[in-house]
Amino acid sequence: MKKIIINGGKPLKGEVSVSGAKNSVVALIPAAILADDVVVLDGVPNISDVDSLVDIMETMGAKVVHSGETLEIDPRSVQNIPVPYDKISRLRASYYFYGSLLGRFGQAVVGLPGGCDLGPRPIDLHLKAFEAMGADVSYEGESMHLTTPHQTIYGAHIYMDTVSVGATINTMIAAVKAQGRTVIENAAREPEIIDVATLLNNMGARIRGAGTDVITVDGVEKLHGTRHQVIPDRIEAGTYIALAAAAGEGVHIKNVLYEHLESYIAKLEEMGVRMTIEEDAIYVEKQSSLRAVSVKTSPYPGFATDLQQPLTPLLISAEGQGTIVDTIYEKRINHVPELAKMGAAISADKNRITYQGPSHLRGRAVKATDLRAGAALVIAGLMADGQTQISNVEFILRGYSNIIEKLSALGADIHLVTD
Ligand code: EPZ
Repeated sequence: MKKIIINGGKPLKGEVSVSGAKNSVVALIPAAILADDVVVLDGVPNISDVDSLVDIMETMGAKVVHSGETLEIDPRSVQNIPVPYDKISRLRASYYFYGSLLGRFGQAVVGLPGGCDLGPRPIDLHLKAFEAMGADVSYEGESMHLTTPHQTIYGAHIYMDTVSVGATINTMIAAVKAQGRTVIENAAREPEIIDVATLLNNMGARIRGAGTDVITVDGVEKLHGTRHQVIPDRIEAGTYIALAAAAGEGVHIKNVLYEHLESYIAKLEEMGVRMTIEEDAIYVEKQSSLRAVSVKTSPYPGFATDLQQPLTPLLISAEGQGTIVDTIYEKRINHVPELAKMGAAISADKNRITYQGPSHLRGRAVKATDLRAGAALVIAGLMADGQTQISNVEFILRGYSNIIEKLSALGADIHLVTD
């Protein structure tokens, strides 16, 4: 097991660069299966979710060359074999193999996805969309079996009961080679959806409306290769902005698209955080007194559920009291008891978190329970007096590229140790 050790209280300053978006690249890699020749992805983050997906792609016969931040994927020799549960269960985003295998072969046998424990995470909307497109869905053993009478799926008019990033992207991936037109209503609008649509359109797909709540896909026969730059990770960016405000004395965060973080930055400004917004960077100054605020998450362009946890240490350092309500994941509160161990005046009642600031944090032994909860504990450790030991850090390494190197370069006293 790996642990992160932080000796807190060091002022952070200097420059940090945001990597490519995890929640885009985990869809871009499976989507490459749809191409008839090589797909090259640039700006790929150094995270274990990428390694897991590359492993699955190679298991299925793809040829993948991973050098630095570039992935060269040759999907021509991909076989439609059942994807083993032990590999698929490593991450939630493995469900994108349902859409890409269905789109290429008209059938798929894939294990159930895994992912962070944020409460129930069904995939009923994904499966409902595939059934609407003509697939028969059955659950056998630990795998989902998607079959079609003539290895063909057909365009359909699909209304998403809940706004779902994964179901929107998965339906789009399946639809690009379907016979006819697919319309996705009540689609999610996250930037990652636009990024996947951009890749697919550059491969020859015909997708319109990505980023709005109605996406139209006209199926095509063939998709060729392309080269694609992954968009910056807005959640990593938001995490570094929060830590720069909490423990920084002037931090320049590069490769940030302000338009992907408008609701988040508005909330930070409401707190009194002083930032300078540049074209593709944000400069966060050392903060004086901040005001406590309340947060309520909602689908993009609202306040991102993935950012409520990383923002919490900054919130509890502010003057006053506030609440945090996650309307997307009602159980995304596992960071609360760990922060309370460190001295935070914070508690949760179902999905409603209440805090009283300012809390002065003390280093403790704490555990990461999921990816963004782990990020919150890293920030709390950077702020706290004394040493913080964070266990279960494999969660953090799934989604934050080179986090130890990036924080050390800012002056943090942080180390990764193996138990
Ligand atoms: C994506 O998860 C992200 N993961 C999550 O980020 C993010 O929190 C989430 O979107 C919401 O923005 C990836 O992109 C890999 P959803 P996803 O489908 O697609 C319900 C991180 O920290 N729902 O948008 O799985 C679901 O239970 C991760 O990087 C159904 O009911 O989320 C949730 O309440 C954590 N049925 C809501 O919709 C379904 O079939 C939104 O989930 C699918 C979802």
